[in-house]
Amino acid sequence: MSGMNQPVQDAINEQIKNEFYSAYLYLAMSAHFEAESLLGFASWMRAQAREEVTHAMKLFDYVNDRGGRVVLQAIDAPPAHFASPLEIFRQALAHERQVTAMIHRLYALAAAENDYPTQVALQWFVTEQVEEEKTAADIVAQLEMVGDNRTALLLMDREMAGRRADEEEEE
Ligand code: FEO
Repeated sequence: MSGMNQPVQDAINEQIKNEFYSAYLYLAMSAHFEAESLLGFASWMRAQAREEVTHAMKLFDYVNDRGGRVVLQAIDAPPAHFASPLEIFRQALAHERQVTAMIHRLYALAAAENDYPTQVALQWFVTEQVEEEKTAADIVAQLEMVGDNRTALLLMDREMAGRRADEEEEE
């Protein structure tokens, strides 16, 4: 017998899959950057993928804590081919905006179902999405400034590796 409201539990299980898909997407982007010898961007994407796994596991733990039942779903394959770094980060930003919409729909469902603990748990994700979108938008803006300048791109690549390492130290 589940301790959770069924529609909410189903929607969270769906979101667990969505977070794992995000990890898959960023890992695919990381592999692409590796192949392009942009190792700073590659490590940034790899760290981002790890962060997405922590998002999925937060929801996984939440369902278990509520006495619900985690049901893992099939994860779609991410794209295998990517365009320029700018296009990749535009894609990442568009993806994060979609995830934000998913989190907001989930929150609205929890509110409609009077599921107060889920609303509280989702507040962390609502705040996190503001940060996720800002981070991606900032990188898009910087890549727009870099334009076709290969030297500037290589400098930014070096910086991307460093920035991620700093963030992980703070965690
Ligand atoms: Fe799980 Fe990138 O938000």
